[in-house]
Amino acid sequence: MPNVAVIGAQWGDEGKGKIVDWLSEKADVIVRFQGGHNAGHTIVVNGIVYKLKLLPSGIVRKNKISIIGNGVVIDPWALLDEIRKIEKQGIKITEKNLYIAENAMLILPLHRELDGIREDAKNTDKIGTTRRGIGPAYEDKIGRRGIRVMDLADKTILSKKIDMILFHHNSIRKGLKQKMVNKKKLINDLKKISSRILKYSKPVWKKINEFKKKKKTIVFEGAQGVLLDIDHGTYPFVTSSNTVAGAAFSGAGCGPDTIDYILGIVKTYTTRVGEGPFPTELKNDIGNKIGVKGKEFGTVTNRKRRCGWFDAVLVKQSCIISGIKGIALTKIDVLDELKDLYICVAYKLNGKKIDYFPSSLQDQIKVKPVYKHFDGWLKNTNGAKKWENLPKKAQTYIRFIRDYCGVSISSISTSPKREDTILLENPFKKY
Ligand code: GDP
Ligand code: IMO
Ligand code: MG
Repeated sequence: MPNVAVIGAQWGDEGKGKIVDWLSEKADVIVRFQGGHNAGHTIVVNGIVYKLKLLPSGIVRKNKISIIGNGVVIDPWALLDEIRKIEKQGIKITEKNLYIAENAMLILPLHRELDGIREDAKNTDKIGTTRRGIGPAYEDKIGRRGIRVMDLADKTILSKKIDMILFHHNSIRKGLKQKMVNKKKLINDLKKISSRILKYSKPVWKKINEFKKKKKTIVFEGAQGVLLDIDHGTYPFVTSSNTVAGAAFSGAGCGPDTIDYILGIVKTYTTRVGEGPFPTELKNDIGNKIGVKGKEFGTVTNRKRRCGWFDAVLVKQSCIISGIKGIALTKIDVLDELKDLYICVAYKLNGKKIDYFPSSLQDQIKVKPVYKHFDGWLKNTNGAKKWENLPKKAQTYIRFIRDYCGVSISSISTSPKREDTILLENPFKKY
């Protein structure tokens, strides 16, 4: 297997965790490169459900190296809590199988608080964030006042950097009539956990280069999805990082030649958590039915996910923007009981037909989907392991997605379980 980047091609929760775990069987190293514990990646192995937020999905397999790259924002308390929970499920996590980039940014309690304050302050314009402090932490990174993992190792530097970050945050908090941050408490709290985080800390760019030289297979695990990308998503209803495949290089510290293949994870319908435009949303019984059958409740915040028809215009756009070479289609089984299915193949904007999703928020809200109808297959596909076992009508639906997006379908997932995955072709054969 070549080195693969796995990217969500919609608004997240496409099933990246399941597919990364599935691919990891043949990989040596799994790298997260952006996002934070706003992500929730679910893996089901032998009836055990693992819910991962910051830890790469390769962690559940033995003899794999999991890496949290510099592009990830890390809440150290959330990470330690996650490690504890996953260890309770029988997974061993040590500095031998988990590396953390020494230059990754930390999420502090003040980031989480600011995220919440802003969300509560807004009435109609709230983003519907996960309230984990992701946005404020990335703002401080770009503002060059962030605290990085390696800063935990030096008391004097940490104290100076905290002064810098507090100068900024306390000014904002004063304006918002919030309590000032207690520096002493923050330093003490960080001190208590420093050694437990620092033991994983490494120059991971160097390690990745060594793995590359040894021809080890690396899977880069994206979080969120292309439509939540800070540049290419439904701005401002997006997350605060680049979620496109290009982010893997900067977020891990390697060159574009490190990744051979970009795999887009695509759900056979569309979901979105939080606010923002969603042209094919179904605010009706069908939407509810999909949500219940697909168990569409957020892994991180337990919020109900909004559900809608498959939007081929959006997925095609994501494939182009992210350089997706193959699609891993997920959750086909969720559509089993629907008599009629629709795929959005264009939009109407101000009476004109358009074949792309415009960047302006006003237009994104205004567009009306143009649908193509498909007969539902009304047969069980749950657990199917062969293409031949899928109903003809399901095959037609899948072929249409392939042809419309102009990207081959490399696998089809038919249940949450690791083994319920149909490999359609070896997408990597030319490697
Ligand atoms: P991620 O954020 O992209 O990793 O996706 P999530 O884990 O947040 O959400 C995907 C959900 O769908 C999880 O609960 C998975 O266990 C589940 N899932 C994945 N693939 C399939 C599938 O083919 N069929 C069904 N019914 N569920 C699936
Ligand atoms: P995975 O990796 C779905 C959404 C939030 C909100 C917006 C901004 O599991 O696919 P943030 O807390 O990032 O500032 O919130 O982004 N969001 C996700 N939606 N899946 C995710 O991750 C998400 N991570 C963030 O709901 O709309
Ligand atoms: Mg998720």
